[in-house]
Amino acid sequence: MSKAGRLVVLVSGSGTNLQALLDASADPAYGARVVAVGADREGIEGLARATRAQVPTFVEKLGDHPTRADWDAAVAARIAAYEPDLVVSAGFMKILGAPTLQAFPVLNTHPALLPSFPGAHGVRDALAHGVKVTGCTVMLADEGIDTGPIVAQEAVPVLPDDDEAVLHERIKTVERRLLVEIVGRMAREGWTVSGRTVRIGNQSGGEST
Ligand code: GRF
Repeated sequence: MSKAGRLVVLVSGSGTNLQALLDASADPAYGARVVAVGADREGIEGLARATRAQVPTFVEKLGDHPTRADWDAAVAARIAAYEPDLVVSAGFMKILGAPTLQAFPVLNTHPALLPSFPGAHGVRDALAHGVKVTGCTVMLADEGIDTGPIVAQEAVPVLPDDDEAVLHERIKTVERRLLVEIVGRMAREGWTVSGRTVRIGNQSGGEST
């Protein structure tokens, strides 16, 4: 049974999911707190949010490293320095490499109902397909693109006049709440993974990994 008190959160953009985690962890009863925020680029609001919350930050740009493998190793080392129990990829627009994935459990959030519409344009792709319901998925990351074991999902309606921005905002309202709920429960109750099945807490009566 794994638990998740210390969080390193990775961001690439506005960081509203990060903000939701920062806000939740202001309450000690939440059970988890953000100990560092990492990014793959500078000058983003996600990093500013961390700084305002007095949380340390780090940036590792892919272009600053000779190879992807070097970047993967550097990211893993930066994360490891904060000894996290859980890494949360919250709008981080890079696939994490084996050095990070093998060292830490990584939780990822995606603005579509996986396995439909994986990748960087989940909202745009769902809209283009004409689905009437989409949503968000919180999953454990593996080496694929949005292919890891699913922890939680919630549906969001697609309305007739939606464009990508409007739909994404509707999804993100749900996504932030779901991510905060799931990270908190994982921290307080622990979790197990069996194949593709993730269980939070000990509902099955003693199973552990
Ligand atoms: C979220 O919808 C996330 O799932 C997607 O990008 C968005 C990030 O939003 N990959 P924010 O940076 O947390 O505001």
